[in-house]
Amino acid sequence: MHSDRVDAVYVRELRIDDIAPVYHLGEQLFTSELYPYLYRTWDEWEVIGLYNTDPDYCLVAEIDEELAGFILGTIITKESWTYGYILWLGVNPKFQRRGVADTLVDKAIARMIEDGARFMLVDTDPANVPAVKFFNRKGFGNIRQHIFLSMNLSKHEHYGRLIDYERQKAERAGYRRMRPTVRPRKTDGVVGEVALTPLVTEPQTTEEQTPV
Ligand SMILES: CC(C)(COP(=O)(O)OP(=O)(O)OC[C@H]1O[C@@H](n2cnc3c(N)ncnc32)[C@H](O)[C@@H]1OP(=O)(O)O)[C@@H](O)C(=O)NCCC(=O)NCCS
Repeated sequence: MHSDRVDAVYVRELRIDDIAPVYHLGEQLFTSELYPYLYRTWDEWEVIGLYNTDPDYCLVAEIDEELAGFILGTIITKESWTYGYILWLGVNPKFQRRGVADTLVDKAIARMIEDGARFMLVDTDPANVPAVKFFNRKGFGNIRQHIFLSMNLSKHEHYGRLIDYERQKAERAGYRRMRPTVRPRKTDGVVGEVALTPLVTEPQTTEEQTPV
């Protein structure tokens, strides 16, 4: 049972002014240490993109005019099936375990049902116990594990060579573009200090760390 169930939770559609606060709340929740995959895929374009394509399924919850949580979803129609898909759900730690996510999910699903959804999908990191428990309790089941694979391209025999080739190409282009700007100053007849701003920034080193 919720120990402190919030009656004053107000759910409304996400507005343009909510994009930055929602993005920042997500940054706080989807951390690289806890959920690397969520962290990697969360950026402001997730919020902006879904706000543009699926405004009906992008909702925010407020408590005392403070952002308490958000849900971002979409609808997928495949053959004769319409699926509601919850892409992102987040609740401000200050307001967790008070039924905010419960309310957000109920409102989003109601809208999806109205638009023909008869099936729901959601995915999350298997280590995300709060989310797995939350969705189980909501009635989501039939868990299927999905694996993510990664590769450091710089360390790969073939792709590593392509990266070297691209780097050399960029260096050559930079050199060509910079050359005409290296000219002695006519006024004093001496080669003056020419501030060279490289047009091509130095690419990442091959010894880069594995990204999170
Ligand atoms: C998962 C999350 C959205 C739940 O939000 P919430 O508003 O705290 O959830 P609710 O209060 O509506 O919880 C409803 C029920 O879900 C379960 N639950 C929620 N959080 C839980 C937790 N930390 N541990 C165990 N069960 C939990 C409980 O059964 C809870 O009912 P109860 O409080 O009566 O026991 C929230 O923890 C969160 O934002 N997590 C970080 C972001 C994230 O992982 N999002 C999901 C993937 S995109």
